[in-house]
Parts: sequence; C-alpha cells; structure tokens
Amino acid sequence: MDRDLIIKVAYLVASVLFILGIKMLGKTSTARRGNTVSAVAMLIAVLATLLDQQILSFTEIFVTILVGSVIGTVIARRVEMTSMPEMVAIFNGFGGAASVLVATSEYWPMAHAEGVSMEIVVGVTVVISVIIGAVTLTGSFVAFGKLKGLINGRAITFGGQHAINAILLVVVVVLGGLVVGDPNAEIWMLGIVGVALLLGVLVVIPIGGADMPVVISLLNSYSGIAACATGFVLNNQVLIIAGALVGASGIILTQIMCKAMNRSLVSVLLGGFGQTSSGGAGGDGQDIVVKEVGVEESAMLFESASSVLIVPGYGMAVAQAQHVVRELADILEKRGASVKFAIHPVAGRMPGHMNVLLAEANIPYDKLIEMDQINDEFANTDIALIIGANDVVNPAARSNPQSPIYGMPILNADKARTVIVCKRGMSAGYAGIENELFGYPNCLMLFGDAKSTMTKVVGELKEMATA
Ligand code: TAP
Repeated sequence: MDRDLIIKVAYLVASVLFILGIKMLGKTSTARRGNTVSAVAMLIAVLATLLDQQILSFTEIFVTILVGSVIGTVIARRVEMTSMPEMVAIFNGFGGAASVLVATSEYWPMAHAEGVSMEIVVGVTVVISVIIGAVTLTGSFVAFGKLKGLINGRAITFGGQHAINAILLVVVVVLGGLVVGDPNAEIWMLGIVGVALLLGVLVVIPIGGADMPVVISLLNSYSGIAACATGFVLNNQVLIIAGALVGASGIILTQIMCKAMNRSLVSVLLGGFGQTSSGGAGGDGQDIVVKEVGVEESAMLFESASSVLIVPGYGMAVAQAQHVVRELADILEKRGASVKFAIHPVAGRMPGHMNVLLAEANIPYDKLIEMDQINDEFANTDIALIIGANDVVNPAARSNPQSPIYGMPILNADKARTVIVCKRGMSAGYAGIENELFGYPNCLMLFGDAKSTMTKVVGELKEMATA
C-alpha cells in the first residue's frame, strides 16, 4: 500500500475513534474508556503524521515528544484535583500558541517568496488561526493567573472597556483582510499577532473569578476552532476533525455551564460577576442563628435514618473527603438505609468535578443522581448530608430576586426532614453570599474539615455497631 493511502486510512480511523471517544465521555460509566479511546486515536494520528516525514527529522520529533511527555506526565501527576481548571487553562493557552506558530510558519515562506500569491482560502484560514490562537493564548494565561491568584481574581474594569475591545476586534479583522489581499506585507501579520494578543488579555480581565471556569471552557472551544483552521492551512483532515470536535463540544459545555448557573454567555463575557463578595448579601453568615451538632449526635441521627441523600460540594474536593464519605455510605447501607448522592451540575469548580471525585472513591455510578432526577426525593428523605457544598443548596436562588444566584437551579436539600451541613465555619461559597438554609429549623451545622469530621463520624458509627 502506498504511504499516502496508509496515512489517509490512519487519519480516518483516528477521526472515527475521536468521535467515539468523545461520545463515551458523555456518560460517567463509559468516560474512562472514552478517554483511552481518544488517547489511542491521538497516538494513531501522531504516528501517521510521523510517516509523512515532511516536517522535521525523526530525532527532532522524538526528542520533542519525549521532553513534552515527561513535562506533561509530571505536571498531570502532581496537580491537585482542585487545580484542574488552572491546568486546563494552561493547556488551552499552549493549544492557541501552537496554532499561531504553525499558521505563521506556513505563511512566512509565502510572504517572502517573490511573485507567489496566496490562495484566498489559505489566507483566510491562516488569519483565523492566528487571531483565535493568539486570543486563546493570552486569554488563557490571564485565566490561569486569576485562578492561581497571581492576578487579582476580581473583575478588572475601566471606562470604555467594551468599546476599546470592539475597536481592537475591528482593527484585527481589517488587518486580516490586508494580509489576505497582499500576503507579502508581513508587517500586517505582525500587527495581527500583536493586536490579537492584547485582545486576549483585555477580554478576560473584566471577568470575575467565579465565571472563570466558564471562560476556560469557552477558550477551550476557541483553541479547537484555531486548531481546525490550522488543519485547513496544512490540509490535514484529522486536525480539522479533531479541532471541530473540540470547538463544538467546548461551546456546548459552555452553554450547559451557563444554564446551570443561570447566566447568559453574553453576561459572562461582559464581566462584572464573580466578585468574592456580592453587595448587601454578606458573606460571613454573621446574621444567621445556627444550631450546632456534634460528631456523636450526628452519628446517632445517622444510625436511626432509613434514607440519606449526600450532597457533595467544593469543600469535599478541598478536604479530599470522598473516600471517607464512601465509607460512611457503606456503613449506612449495611445498616439497611438507602444512600444516594445528589449531584448538582456546577458543584465544585469544574464540570463533572463531583462525579470524578466520587468515581475515584469507587462509588457506583448508579448512586450518583443528577439534580433533576433527585430533587423530588428530598422531601421524603430523613437526612440530607451536605458536605462542603454551599451555593448549590442556597434557597436564595429560589426566593430572593436580589440574590446574584437568583434563578440558578438548586438541590432541594432544605426540604429533607433533617439537614446536616458539614463545613469548617460560616464562610460563603463561591458566589460570596450567605446561605439562609444554615439557619433553618431543620438544619444542623456540623463544623469542621470535611475529611476529619466525617472520619470521626464514621469512627463513632463503627463503635456504635460493636457496642
Ligand atoms: P461553594 O458554594 O463554593 O461552597 C463551598 C463551601 O465549602 C464553602 O462555603 C466552604 O465553607 C466549604 N469548605 C471549604 N473547604 C472545606 C473543607 N476542607 N471542609 C469542609 N468544608 C469546606 O461550593 P458548591 O456548593 O460546590 O458550589 C459551587 C460554586 O462554584 C457555585 O457557585 C458555582 O456556580 C461555582 N462554579 C462552579 C463551576 C463548575 S463547572 N463546577 C464553574 C464556575 C463556578 P467553609 O470555608 O466555612 O468551610
């Protein structure tokens, strides 16, 4: 078989596997397999590209892959689950950078070759790659800086900001037109890179920390679109398909996240939300009178409960309490109680955050119930145990039109006969607002770090079983 045919078939197989892989990622039960299938697809695509042998020598390619793989493996193994959004932000940034570099390196020889004209399609795709790639690069690094606390997480705004961004967008599009019209004038291309890099910074700084994961998902989509455009530049089918998949799935995910937070994409992009304190609503919970409960008393309540719904949130991720929570669920089930996990779509700090943590603790997938399916069950439940969750169970989202989270769908944990909330103190959640649920008559506060407190509760239950 000739080499071209082998490469084409390999690209086709890789593309089909990418599509199957991304489909499998849609369900918790097949997500791990989907990840493996996609990784195999990427390996096939890389090997087929190596067969092409037109780019660099094998030595250069292998050394580069080796260095990249070592860095990637070390970083991925070290990163905390709570820092995953930062890592995704950096990856998006590198994806954008790759698109800029590949597209400009394809363009540069054309710009310098006398009398060579660039096809309009090639010119347009080069320009799209460079613009979106450069915006993604700097936008992602600003997002990373905000999440990491290197840059102020608050929305950074100034007068005329949106007008300036709009002008820069027009400038970059006009420069793009000039490059397509006259590919030899590379000064315009340098102008595009510079303005697009600036635009990336300016569009992300007005967005507050709470909206950053939405922005990262959007930038992820941009990196896919940039890669797709680069695929057209290189005439590489697998890059076009993989880029289009990333672009489309990123947009869909962005929409799902916006819907779950009751925010429109436009309001996220215009910025201003996501300050760590939202005017008037207060964040320290000092006005709320709460009833405290101790470890022993909690264990006694669990002992007599026949149904328990566990609501995990960001605090469970911080405390890494998922394993002890599983132990608690096992003990209660052994005692004959029904135990399920109620999953809010934006609990934690990234899509699927709770599912990933609970899967890591080997909690069966059929115990994880999505919000829409579980919400009616709270009213017939003895105990709703809220572990490190706050905003996703805040009744203000239903009842207080002044609240910044008003309209966001929440888990109806407050409807359970008894609510036990395990958190360290009265601090607010990500939206920066107090939670009136903590003062409800059926609510008991079990103060302490989620892992150590749940470990004590589990210990107490074990003692009760042997007594
Ligand atoms: P949050 O509302 O952020 O509340 C987390 C709570 O965990 C805090 O109030 C904190 O209170 C407690 N906590 C922290 N460390 C703890 C520990 N070691 N042990 C026990 N508790 C601890 O969490 P949530 O209910 O999961 O809501 C998620 C929020 O993030 C929503 O506002 C959502 O819109 C936003 N968000 C989510 C996403 C995605 S995709 N998931 C994306 C963007 C924004 P103490 O300090 O008092 O303990």
